[in-house]
Amino acid sequence: MDEFSKKPVLKQETKRDLPQESPATSSRRRFLGIGVAAAVAGLTGFGAGVRFSEQPKEPLLKPVQPAQPVQRPREPLGSRKFKARNRAILQRHNEQTREVVERLRLKYHNAVFGKARVWDLIEKLAFCVDETDQSLYCTSQFVHVQQVLAAMEQDGIEEHDLFLAALLHDLGKVTLLTDELPENVLCSAVPIGEATHGAGLDRVIYQFCHGEIVYSRLKDHVPDHIAWVLRYHNISIEKSAPYMNERDRTYTAKYLTTFQKYDRGFKSYASMPQIDLKKYRDLIEQTFPNPILF
Ligand SMILES: [Fe+2]
Ligand SMILES: [Fe+2]
Repeated sequence: MDEFSKKPVLKQETKRDLPQESPATSSRRRFLGIGVAAAVAGLTGFGAGVRFSEQPKEPLLKPVQPAQPVQRPREPLGSRKFKARNRAILQRHNEQTREVVERLRLKYHNAVFGKARVWDLIEKLAFCVDETDQSLYCTSQFVHVQQVLAAMEQDGIEEHDLFLAALLHDLGKVTLLTDELPENVLCSAVPIGEATHGAGLDRVIYQFCHGEIVYSRLKDHVPDHIAWVLRYHNISIEKSAPYMNERDRTYTAKYLTTFQKYDRGFKSYASMPQIDLKKYRDLIEQTFPNPILF
């Protein structure tokens, strides 16, 4: 017999310690006593021969914590199909040739919607989704514009023209509401083929998309620098830098670098910006008091 088993597991109760009780109660107590003794023996490692002096200090019965499900980042429902469609559109956009660009330029030399108030066109962006933008998923372009405005406001931007550019820059995407192919409207604009270094961006043949569309419709209604920002708002500054002339470099430094920070950096499919839209409607009405051909 080892040292442990010589020791009593529980203090023996004597008749003197107990109040008088009925035989039924007494028998129930004995039964419960055996159960408690067995439970304590099991919990203290009785079977493994652990000595009392070696028992851990923590309480024997720890509160039970409910199991927490593992948190895995979850892609939004349907995102796989969204990405597949994005890749297909991007591939067709990248297959544009100079001939295709020329044909589309000619097409958008003429108006698509006829005479329209610019604010009404901006509101049409609420019906437009950029199927190639995984930062926004199904968020409308109207919400995207508001996100850009809200971020500029938050950073204390005071340059009036940057707000105007924010309101107008994606207006070419309203052609998604026509039978135009998405690869001719969406994506960014990358030069096709070689161009002369330093000749200026206007002499570079870029892939055709919404920047060129909005430029073609608004260039006669806004100052040169705003028309320029609208046209080139979605180029890669780094890749286009070799082709820039002095005008391009000036507009890039003064407007485009800052603009792209807000256009690209604040997209979210979960953020609903709180801005005073009436203020921006007034700005557009003052800038375009009459309907324009779009
Ligand atoms: Fe854009
Ligand atoms: Fe944008």
